[in-house]
Amino acid sequence: MHASNKMEKLNLSPASELALSKIVLGLWRLNNIPANELLEILHYSINLGITSFDEADIYGGYRSQEYLGRALKAEPSLRHAIQLVSKAGVILPGSVFTKSGIGYYKTTQQHITQSVEKTLGDMNTDYLDLLLIHRPNPLMVPEELDAVFQKLKKAGKVLHFGVSNFTSNQFDMLTQRMETPIITNQIELSVLHTTPLNDGTLDNCIKNQIKPMLWSPLAGGALFTGKTEQIHRVNGVLAEIAREHYNAAIEQIALAWLLKHPSNAIPVIGTLNKERILSAITSTHIELTDEQWFRILIASQGHPMA
Ligand SMILES: NC(=O)c1ccc[n+]([C@@H]2O[C@H](COP(=O)([O-])OP(=O)(O)OC[C@H]3O[C@@H](n4cnc5c(N)ncnc54)[C@H](OP(=O)(O)O)[C@@H]3O)[C@@H](O)[C@H]2O)c1
Repeated sequence: MHASNKMEKLNLSPASELALSKIVLGLWRLNNIPANELLEILHYSINLGITSFDEADIYGGYRSQEYLGRALKAEPSLRHAIQLVSKAGVILPGSVFTKSGIGYYKTTQQHITQSVEKTLGDMNTDYLDLLLIHRPNPLMVPEELDAVFQKLKKAGKVLHFGVSNFTSNQFDMLTQRMETPIITNQIELSVLHTTPLNDGTLDNCIKNQIKPMLWSPLAGGALFTGKTEQIHRVNGVLAEIAREHYNAAIEQIALAWLLKHPSNAIPVIGTLNKERILSAITSTHIELTDEQWFRILIASQGHPMA
C-alpha cells in the first residue's frame, strides 16, 4: 500500500483538535512480547495509516503498558508519530490498589492521578493523547473528575479526555456538570452486539457531535470461533455479501458494517497479526448498500424489521 493510500484521520469532536486514525489498534491482548517484535507491529501499522493505539492501566494484569513502554524506550522518536489512548478508573481484584482484595471502580482525584502517573511511567512517555474513564462508576462525582482532568491537562500529562461504556444518561450527567470537553465514548459494538443501535448510546454521540470508539468490533473473535445460532446466521450473510464485494473477507464486511453508521465510529481492532491488520484496513474502502447493511442486522437480531 502506498503512502497516498494511507487511511484518513478523524477528528473526535469539534471541541478538540485530536484526530485518531480511522481504525485504532487495541493492545489489550499484548502478552510478554519482546520490544523488537512489538516495534515491528507498530511500524507495520503506522505505515498502513494506523497511528492510534488503545491501552488501559489494567490490561494484561497491569503489564501491557510496560511492553509498549519498552518498545517506546527502544525507539523514542516513535512517540510523536502516534496517538496514545489509555484508561483509568477500574481496580482489578488482588491488585495493589485494593485493600480488601475485591475489584471495583474508583474515580477519585487521588486514584486517577496515581493511575495516570503509573501509565506514563510504564509507557515511557510524558503525555497521553486521550484518557478515558474506563467504566461508569456509580460513586463518580463530576466536579471531582473535572478538577483532576484540568490538573492533568494543565500539567501537560493528558491532552484530551473521554469515557468508556457510558449510557447516554451517564454521558449527559457527566458532561453537563463539567467544563472539560468529553470527546468520545468507547463502547462495545459489532455485528453480534447491536444494542447501542437501539438504546440511544449512538444517537447521543451524534447529538453531542462526538465520534464513538468501538471495542471488540469483531466480537472479540467470537465471529470466527463461536457456535451459536446467531453467529451461524450472521456468518452466512457476511459470506454472501463478501462474495458480492469481489470476494472480500467476512471480517472486512463486519467492519464495513460498523463504518457505515452515521456516527462515524472508530473501530478498535484487537488482532496483532499483520495479515489481519492489513485485511481490516481494506474494510475502509468497502461501502455497503443500505440493503446489505440491513441484511446483516436482520441476521443478527434473528427477525425481520418491524
Ligand atoms: N473500553 C473497554 O471496556 C474495552 C473492552 C474490551 C476491549 N477494549 C479495546 O478493544 C480492543 C479490541 O478488542 P478485541 O481484541 O476484543 O477486538 P476484536 O478485533 O473484536 O477481536 C480480536 C480477536 O479476534 C481474533 N480473530 C480471529 N480471526 C480474526 C480475523 N480474521 N481478523 C481479526 N481478528 C481475528 C483475534 O485473534 P488473533 O489475535 O489471533 O489475530 C483476536 O483474538 C482491545 O485491544 C482494547 O483496546 C476496550
